Amino acid sequence: MIPLPKKHIISLNPYSPGKPIEEVKRELGLKKVIKMASNENPLGPSPLALKAAYKALKKVHLYPESGSYYLCRKLAASLNVKPENICLGNGSNELILLAIHSYASEPEDRIAYGFPSFIIYRIIAHSYGIKTIETGLRNHRIDLEKLAGSLTEHTKIVFLCNPNNPMGTMNHRNEVAAFIEKVPSNVLTVMDEAYCEYADKKTFPDLVKISTEKPNLVILRTFSKMYGLAGLRIGYAIGHKSIIETLNKARQPFNVNSIAQSAALAALDDLKHVKRTLETNAEGIDYIVSNLRRMGVEFIPTSTNFILIKTGDSKKFFDMLLEKGIIVRPMGSYGLNEYIRVTVGLPSENRNFIRNLEVVMSLTGGNK
Ligand SMILES: Cc1ncc(COP(=O)(O)O)c(C=O)c1O
Repeated sequence: MIPLPKKHIISLNPYSPGKPIEEVKRELGLKKVIKMASNENPLGPSPLALKAAYKALKKVHLYPESGSYYLCRKLAASLNVKPENICLGNGSNELILLAIHSYASEPEDRIAYGFPSFIIYRIIAHSYGIKTIETGLRNHRIDLEKLAGSLTEHTKIVFLCNPNNPMGTMNHRNEVAAFIEKVPSNVLTVMDEAYCEYADKKTFPDLVKISTEKPNLVILRTFSKMYGLAGLRIGYAIGHKSIIETLNKARQPFNVNSIAQSAALAALDDLKHVKRTLETNAEGIDYIVSNLRRMGVEFIPTSTNFILIKTGDSKKFFDMLLEKGIIVRPMGSYGLNEYIRVTVGLPSENRNFIRNLEVVMSLTGGNK
């Protein structure tokens, strides 16, 4: 006899992350590999964050501040909310898990979201044995009417990923406001805004204030994308005091390490790095999009730091680009077998990608 895991863990389809650079180098014997697969910041972390992280290393014999005291206050001040409206997580992934852990538990409970969307909602829900309701898209954007229409008395949580990963598209301010009003007050609405910093400020929903007032709304954000701290695992929730209290109760003590807390504090101050990041991304999108147009390759216009490209057989494109030292993401696990997702890189990486995409396209006759 051996110990048996729960049946929904046995049947779980685990997350398939972007391939790490070192692994590809090892496996394919390549010297130079670039990763355009996980929507990280191609410029790396802010120099100020790095300096703060080195300094924090000297004190790793001590436990971190359990509630991320200083960071929580700094975020609250910058968002014009109270510290009681902020909860820090080990990446926003942990906050997704804590939301499901805290608000859904019974076999009849349901979690809803538009799909394709961030696949972690499905994986975590299923790991708790909770069924998911996945509604579709309209014009590549989450169909909010369908999503609102899918909510039943059994729905405990509705996730809205905005801008949406992997589509890159966003739902605008007015439609999101109307959607939030339609969600019953006993359903937790989780706005996953991992890519919000890249979206157009003029039309992106500004939900920070309302999230502190509405007892069923919480926003999740991360330091993994624009702030370039994915490896340190740090994200945060903004929401009503009662939701934040619940998440804080459910999390482990010391869930965010001291290096991550110090680096994130410093990253918030590095406005120069933020500006460079956004400029690099905007230029990269322009470059990639104009070349895809020139090549006649279909893509989905993006509000993020990644772009979904229709190549045809995405696994084949992934493999062929990998052989050329470029890691992208095949989208089969999202039901998008004809698409690869590519993170915007440095100018040289974007050029390398386009050059090789063109080669692979000509070899395969792709996209047609
Ligand atoms: C939409 C979305 N939400 C959340 C996350 C998780 O980010 P974190 O690194 O903060 O856990 C990601 C990461 O790719 C994401 O794409």
